[in-house]
Amino acid sequence: MLHLLRLNRPFSRKAPTTAITTSTRQTSTMAGQHEAAILPQQGGPLSLGKRATPEPGPNDVLIEVKAVALNPCNHFQRDYGMPPVPIYPAIIGSDTAGVVAKLGSNVTTVPGPGSRVIAFASSFYQNGSPDHGSFQKYTLAQSEAVIPLPDNLSFEEGAVFPLAVLTALTAWTTIGIPLDTKHTPADKQAVLIWGASSSVGTFAVQSAKTLGFTVYATASPKHHDLVKKLGAHAVFDYRASDVFSRIVSAVKKDGTAIFEIGFHALRKKTVSRTLTQNTLGLTRIVSMQGLLRQSYAELFFQNTVTTSVLYT
Ligand SMILES: NC(=O)c1ccc[n+]([C@@H]2O[C@H](COP(=O)([O-])OP(=O)(O)OC[C@H]3O[C@@H](n4cnc5c(N)ncnc54)[C@H](OP(=O)(O)O)[C@@H]3O)[C@@H](O)[C@H]2O)c1
Repeated sequence: MLHLLRLNRPFSRKAPTTAITTSTRQTSTMAGQHEAAILPQQGGPLSLGKRATPEPGPNDVLIEVKAVALNPCNHFQRDYGMPPVPIYPAIIGSDTAGVVAKLGSNVTTVPGPGSRVIAFASSFYQNGSPDHGSFQKYTLAQSEAVIPLPDNLSFEEGAVFPLAVLTALTAWTTIGIPLDTKHTPADKQAVLIWGASSSVGTFAVQSAKTLGFTVYATASPKHHDLVKKLGAHAVFDYRASDVFSRIVSAVKKDGTAIFEIGFHALRKKTVSRTLTQNTLGLTRIVSMQGLLRQSYAELFFQNTVTTSVLYT
């Protein structure tokens, strides 16, 4: 649930998803319509059109979209219909920041109209409902997927968080680690986060730290300071030929860690090295990429619908 974003302070501002700001010239018209980027069929292209501005259902929030993040998920949806796009014309997009326009009658957890919010406004968790989906000037979002946008973040900065955060948090529960876990140093629990400077990885590091793990991580040297600042105990260059032995030596030297969990926050091309050559003795690995999938669409289905894939 996105309200768990609060677990992840400080927010990382590094996220390669790109935020774009929507035009302010077009708001809801007197006729109750708004502009939308509409996907007419699989493969696109998107076209600009008008849609009726919906009334929020009891648990929905109607949001005036100020910025949307372009997540890799968006082009998978446009080009391959994955995550599933059951209704065309479709509205895709999920990561957004904006201003609350109207609250549904049962909504008590979201601040009122005029408030700045971050939202996971996706049609793919709503049976393809085109009223939900951030590529339009007004979108509905489930109330539990909406949180206040902190004052020190712009709309563009806020928009990049939702799906990457959701993915990182869901990964923990996928391998059986409840989000209210609070290990103490006496528990000696450690985790290896491979790809810690990625969008998902930065949130994996912060949430791992919050859960009480000692965090070992990999990233390019230019990102080591960032990853340490986010909570990693030690960071290694994944390009070093002896990276595995370096990690093992460090864990042994620290002498405090029970080291069984790996969090693989990377893309396809890097899977084989870290998962098939699991020389680190990890018994639970959560991965953002399936090992044996035949197509990219299937890979993405694995990533998104189950959010992450567990290998033991
Ligand atoms: N972003 C999302 O919302 C989201 C949602 C669901 C699933 N996913 C999945 O999660 C995975 C990560 O996506 P992302 O968007 O977080 O990626 P990303 O932000 O694009 O990550 C890019 C970073 O990965 C690091 N990297 C590349 N090769 C590496 C290697 N061999 N070893 C270690 N690090 C390496 C690089 O870090 P350095 O610059 O430090 O080298 C690079 O900057 C993907 O499989 C994606 O499909 C993402």
